[in-house]
Amino acid sequence: MRDLRDQAEALRRAAAALEPGPDERRRLATAVVEHAEGFLEALETGPAYWTPDDGAAMRGLDLGPEGRSIDELLALVTTEVERQGVNPAHPRDFGWVPGGGLFASALGDYLAAVSNTFAGYSPACPGAARTEHRMVRWIADLVGYPESAGGVLTSGGSVAILTAILAARDARGVASAEIPALVVYATEELHYAAAKALHIVGLREASWRTVPVDARRRMVPDELQRLVVEDRRKGLTPWLVLSTAGTVNSGAIDPLEAIGVIARAEGLWHHVDAAYGGFYMLVEAFRPRFRGIEQSDSVVLDPHKSLFVPYGAGAVVVRDAAHLDALRFRAPYLVESETADPSPSEQSIELTKHFRGLRMLFPLFLHGTAPFAAALEEKVVLTRYLHERIDALDGFETGPPPELSTMCFRRRPSGSSEEEADRATLDLQDAIHADGHVFVTGSWLNDHFWLRPCVEVFRTHATHIDALIDTLERLTGASG
Ligand SMILES: Cc1ncc(COP(=O)(O)O)c(C=O)c1O
Repeated sequence: MRDLRDQAEALRRAAAALEPGPDERRRLATAVVEHAEGFLEALETGPAYWTPDDGAAMRGLDLGPEGRSIDELLALVTTEVERQGVNPAHPRDFGWVPGGGLFASALGDYLAAVSNTFAGYSPACPGAARTEHRMVRWIADLVGYPESAGGVLTSGGSVAILTAILAARDARGVASAEIPALVVYATEELHYAAAKALHIVGLREASWRTVPVDARRRMVPDELQRLVVEDRRKGLTPWLVLSTAGTVNSGAIDPLEAIGVIARAEGLWHHVDAAYGGFYMLVEAFRPRFRGIEQSDSVVLDPHKSLFVPYGAGAVVVRDAAHLDALRFRAPYLVESETADPSPSEQSIELTKHFRGLRMLFPLFLHGTAPFAAALEEKVVLTRYLHERIDALDGFETGPPPELSTMCFRRRPSGSSEEEADRATLDLQDAIHADGHVFVTGSWLNDHFWLRPCVEVFRTHATHIDALIDTLERLTGASG
């Protein structure tokens, strides 16, 4: 016995580095905080995009038995992470759907990690479960869902959509024999995460109907109705309509109310992908555009998009939480207490979960919702300003006026064909990336290539839009 104690003591000493004392903790934390400050202070002057190297340093990184210094580690993070590719915290990052990453959320994450709070299982950490339920209820209220609603925080939109599709499948009690007869309706603007989710849940054989869009790339409800009638006539089973509130290509919001009326009359599950656009409902003036979302069956909103929370935060809310019951599994090693605080794992794909609630609670509690509404409205105003500025530039073409914070444009020197415009726009994207001062990504719309800046980083302001225009002028020689 004595030997075992001596052995354990020797091992404890060998492992002591895992539990730094208070002075060492402060020293490490100070180094990280100073690094973070340096990172944030350099945003304005540094590039939004660093052309990545071949990654050899990270691939060859030696992780041996001996630890190394925090200074060496932070230098590694600087060169091998922060200076590789896009800087997603940057005010001149307009690529895909950015968000910025709120500092207050980082503080919440720090506490979540230090306390290692277990957010999946409420008998273990009911406070974490309650925090998550509160955040989900806040989203449900924003959407206008009734008390019956429920959902969970997820790693992002893809897992949130997967959870919604599971609910839609189980609400219908889909039998495998009927899968080939099921029909899913969406426009070509739907994010691929939904198709991936259908594949994961074993419904890849269901038929897809691409519902035509109008000039602003929104679903045409009459066309949806026509397709549903046609499918019924063929003996098929219309099942699911996937609409989008804020498409990734152009920020278009489908006419949710009209789609919902058809969905209810035809017995379709109506899911709304509001991963990008959903939090714009915080702006009172924008709420009418989302009318009908409150009648949908399920919805996804991504706090890591228009709530500016750092990446790793999605949310799914189902109008009737009972449709998530199929995710409730019991096991002898996890006894559920019948409390008012069900375990998030009972409605989630995950069991052990990151305590995501704090990364939402911190900014909402510290700042209140008013600055979010102002920032979101500012982003829409800035996007309109960007649209106007590019409209005034020689040799550029713009897409429809923006509905939210995404707009489309392409390079089109006068007299150029569609194909020449595609080439010129692809070349411009390459030139923007090589330059690095601003970051913009593109997409194919109607078989043609467009750049689609998304003004979604909370720290992006008018000067950064001016910087984007200056960059376009500098790289193309255009003037406005
Ligand atoms: C409209 C929309 N839906 C779904 C997703 C997928 O979300 P995530 O990347 O968080 O998985 C995105 C991502 O950009 C999106 O814009």
